[in-house]
Amino acid sequence: MSRILTGIQSSGKPHLGNLLGAIFPAIELADAQAEPAYLFIADLHALTTVRDARLLRENTYAVAATWLACGLDPKRHVFFRQSDVPEVTELAWYLSCLTPYPMLANAHSFKEKSAHLAEVSAGLFTYPVLMAADILLYQADWIPVGKDQKQHIEITRDLAGAFNRVYGEIFKLPEPVFREEVMVLPGIDGRKMSKSYGNTLDVLGDLQELHKRVKRIVTDATPLHAPKDPERCTVFQLFAAVASPERTAELREKYLSGGYGYGQAKEALFEVLKERFAAQREAYERWWSAPDEMEKVLWMGAQKAREEAERTLSRVRQAVGVGASIFRRSFSRG
Ligand code: ADP
Ligand code: TRP
Repeated sequence: MSRILTGIQSSGKPHLGNLLGAIFPAIELADAQAEPAYLFIADLHALTTVRDARLLRENTYAVAATWLACGLDPKRHVFFRQSDVPEVTELAWYLSCLTPYPMLANAHSFKEKSAHLAEVSAGLFTYPVLMAADILLYQADWIPVGKDQKQHIEITRDLAGAFNRVYGEIFKLPEPVFREEVMVLPGIDGRKMSKSYGNTLDVLGDLQELHKRVKRIVTDATPLHAPKDPERCTVFQLFAAVASPERTAELREKYLSGGYGYGQAKEALFEVLKERFAAQREAYERWWSAPDEMEKVLWMGAQKAREEAERTLSRVRQAVGVGASIFRRSFSRG
């Protein structure tokens, strides 16, 4: 029996890259296991970048509505908001007392993020420790993540190993599951689609807005009549990621034979996005307009998550020597 666990930060509205690269594959992997998966919205991690309470809440609901609209069954899996399980910050503290400073100072993700910031917070620095706590608290086996999270999983394994050596076997060592087959989707400017570049396509949002964004996809200056290289075109790559192989082959033909413009290709892309995500868009709107329903679902998930969290944490407290002792012996005066 394998327990799947993954988190997605509520640092923005999920985009097409998140859906194809993270959300759909995680749900598929979760549904393939007999055991319920732990899937959560990492709003505490998002606090390292979002400093507007209203925006953070809105993003959290957007992420919740997206997972639910993409088919996550909250009755079968444990779906919750990270901050609804305060036990995770307690475990993060115990782990941080075992974390060597250079391990965090040399982490790629920290070096990269902190290089662009005028002010670097301790939260950003200890981000991987909170992530380790997310995973170890629930004794997860498999962690589906993007390649960018590889080092964070290694840190988690190192911390679990260090804890077990010092205090006895308490934590399972988790394994990452990388999604090799998923390509990195380009955004409308041709760079990797990412919230931080503002080049995303929000396929579950307003259609008019989506249409406008698709029309803004950057293409080269090949004239209408000339043949075009599909492999070097962002419009084509996005189309291929979403459409059936047959439709992709047809579009490839049109590119290669010439007389087919980028404007037409963009219309074809918009149509395929509209069709492919029609059901999810409808479900997203339903969830989005029912925040009380989302709260109910998240509350139910948090209750289940906290039960498991308490089980681990009571063992951890005993092991490290905090809280009431279960061995009620008297202490010698020395
Ligand atoms: P962003 O770059 O927009 O901040 P995140 O880092 O929050 O996105 O992404 C969460 C997960 O979504 C990543 O671990 C990765 O698996 C997936 N993902 C993000 N962007 C893309 C993309 N352009 N193509 C494919 N998958 C992506
Ligand atoms: N750091 C992850 C990301 O940016 C999100 C995350 C937080 C996570 N806690 C986690 C992923 C635990 C997997 C397991 O994508």
